[in-house]
Amino acid sequence: MIKCKDIVVKYDNFIAINKINLFVSKNTSCAIIGKSGCGKTTLLYTLAGLLQPENGQVEIDNKLITGIRKETGVILQNHGLFPWKTVWQNVSLGLKIRRKKPNFIKKEVATILKKLDIFEQKDKYLNQLSGGQKQRVAIARSIAIKPDLLLMDEPTSSLDAITKEDFQKKILKLYKNQDLTMVFVTHDIEEAVFLGQKIIIMEAGKIKREISNDLFGNESIKKEIDFYKICLEVRDILGES
Ligand SMILES: Nc1ncnc2c1ncn2[C@@H]1O[C@H](COP(=O)(O)OP(=O)(O)O)[C@@H](O)[C@H]1O
Ligand SMILES: [Mg+2]
Repeated sequence: MIKCKDIVVKYDNFIAINKINLFVSKNTSCAIIGKSGCGKTTLLYTLAGLLQPENGQVEIDNKLITGIRKETGVILQNHGLFPWKTVWQNVSLGLKIRRKKPNFIKKEVATILKKLDIFEQKDKYLNQLSGGQKQRVAIARSIAIKPDLLLMDEPTSSLDAITKEDFQKKILKLYKNQDLTMVFVTHDIEEAVFLGQKIIIMEAGKIKREISNDLFGNESIKKEIDFYKICLEVRDILGES
């Protein structure tokens, strides 16, 4: 589904992505992990069509990406929500822009908010929510448009440990209950192994290693010793230079 061929992404003369080849199959999940500044966000933005590669190309479902694609849901690092709008308004926005009928919007938004346990907060403004609730609103908003591809940049980085685990479980459930390809950036090794079917380890604008994670999909994976073995493997690769 996602095919990156020899992509090079530059900021002026600085090469942030240096000939990356990446393939992510449809309806699978891919984690991107690596040290700060290695190019994770740049790669994600390129998949989103927000940045254009200088060389090489990105294809999604065999179509060349030259800009933003309407079936791609994106959650940027600062989650891009509108603080002066309510939860309900934030989540329904994408559907309104797409001119869906009010009855349809009402039903869809209610279903999604319930799925993510934020229905009771629907009339609150964003600044009245906790960090975890805000992140759930961000997810709700991006899945309301029924994306076939969800891109997330460090979706849990601002959350405390317990809220983070809860949020990760909600994402896994959501992913399992619909057709969705998911690519997310994280600096958290356990998160990469919990939510990534494939784990891409980046270093200095390149892919250093790719791991396929057979344990993916099991919600109780963290009770298995093999989970920590994969975490250690990722840690070792991150530490090598
Ligand atoms: N707008 C920009 N202009 C110039 N350099 C940038 C810009 N954004 C990122 N960079 C540089 O590109 C590299 C990769 O950045 P980024 O993709 O944000 O890394 P990561 O998300 O892995 O921390 C870093 O060295 C960063 O300083
Ligand atoms: Mg980043």
